Amino acid sequence: MKQKILFVCLGNICRSPSAEAVFAHYVNEKGLADQYLIESAGISGYHQGELPDARMRSHAARRGYKLESLSRQVRADDFDHYDLIIAMDHSNRDALRDLAPSLEGQAKIRLMTDFMPDSLYDHVPDPYYGGAEGFELVLDMLEEASAGLFAYTQSIQDELK
Ligand code: 4NP
Repeated sequence: MKQKILFVCLGNICRSPSAEAVFAHYVNEKGLADQYLIESAGISGYHQGELPDARMRSHAARRGYKLESLSRQVRADDFDHYDLIIAMDHSNRDALRDLAPSLEGQAKIRLMTDFMPDSLYDHVPDPYYGGAEGFELVLDMLEEASAGLFAYTQSIQDELK
């Protein structure tokens, strides 16, 4: 059984498509890509159908990540399909809680920073209106969180064995 993970931010053009690519790269390096389904979505539909932001793609490309997913809005039925729904910030998390059709669905919601217990940050800051350093910070944080998320998902996998 694959673990199905949905990363969520506001626009689905900066943070969550990057989280998708960074985590997919991480599990691929471990040789475990076939254990996971990894996708992303946005709270808003403002950028529906668009590729990720050109600035985010260019910063990601310098680290070897290719961002190719098209933006889509999160839906209530995503809570049936995915095992973990991971928000980048508190506003995304609160919107997901409102959208969740059941308590079981709500229980699937996490914050990305939950997987970075040593971080000074309690959310992944939105880089959209800022400069280059914001995009680099997003990637630094996602790389660190991916290690924590991987360890968490592997511990679940072990429990299911
Ligand atoms: P993201 O960044 O939530 O990380 O994809 C944003 C992208 C677009 C907007 C806000 C944040 N926007 O307001 O259009």
